[in-house]
Amino acid sequence: MKVGADVLAALRAAGDGFVSGERLAELSGLTRAAVWKKIEELRSRGYLIDARTHLGYRLRGAPDTPYPEEVREGLSASVFGREVFYLPSVTSTNEVAKKLAAEGCPEGTLVAAEEQTAGRGRLGRRWVSPPGGLWFSLVLRPGLALTDLGLLTVAAAVALRRAVQAAAGVQAEIKWPNDLLVNGRKIAGILAEASGELGCAVQVILGVGVNINQRTEDFSEELRERATSLRAVLGRPAPRLPVLRAFLSSFEELYAGIGRNRCETVLAEAAAHSATLGRRVRVTAGGRVFEGLALRLDPDGALVLGNDEGEARILTGEVERLDGQA
Ligand code: BTN
Repeated sequence: MKVGADVLAALRAAGDGFVSGERLAELSGLTRAAVWKKIEELRSRGYLIDARTHLGYRLRGAPDTPYPEEVREGLSASVFGREVFYLPSVTSTNEVAKKLAAEGCPEGTLVAAEEQTAGRGRLGRRWVSPPGGLWFSLVLRPGLALTDLGLLTVAAAVALRRAVQAAAGVQAEIKWPNDLLVNGRKIAGILAEASGELGCAVQVILGVGVNINQRTEDFSEELRERATSLRAVLGRPAPRLPVLRAFLSSFEELYAGIGRNRCETVLAEAAAHSATLGRRVRVTAGGRVFEGLALRLDPDGALVLGNDEGEARILTGEVERLDGQA
């Protein structure tokens, strides 16, 4: 461990071993009193730290909270999530991310919150975001045509599906364009808010909400019918950080592919795990209603419906299955 490391990194590097207060002071460049203060501060944030006379300190556990240090720990993405802002309570992480983006924060900056008091869903809906869920936004500067934004959100849904499977072993389906469903109930949603010039998406705030630790009874009666959480599916609490890190890694890879016009993986995975394709659906888009069989996704992520009148291409919209399912 190099001198200049912070106290948490020094404790981590020691693994199961103890590190003396003196050594921590030496490594961090702090006084012994400042090291002690730092230990107390870490404990107040949920870190479990043992203290033993003559031996020093040992890290026994880290919180499952998207603090910058925790998001970065073991993260294989190299751009997404390198800059992290964690807020205990916020109106909407999309709102904060938008402000940071306007101030010129780097691409891949992540804003995560414990709870949102005015969480936003698609189509102006409210997104209920109590403590224990995973609520975050990512700042992107994709330089895509605004008409290709659909593909970006489909890619995010594919990455999130992979993350939920890898981190929690739960198989979700993708309801076009970007909801994740488990057993027909919504477990996650994505809200991409773009701003651009001359038909080009200069900046996108990609907001992701995953229901992780709500119990079934925590959902309002109205939501209970339509929503679920990892905890409700697994029958036990689920950690959030592995889902977040897995998403960041997968999405970074898929996002780079989209920029190079390589979207086959996204389209193939979105189709293979679709809750929409092959079903008879009604889609409401821009005040119009389309009905038909969901045939395929076009290369830009648009949904193609087939009916007696031919085919209709829909860039984004709200899908309702006509067989009574979600
Ligand atoms: C939807 O399915 O309607 C989209 C839901 C998106 C919710 C997330 S939570 C983090 C980010 N901040 C928000 O206000 N909304 C998104």
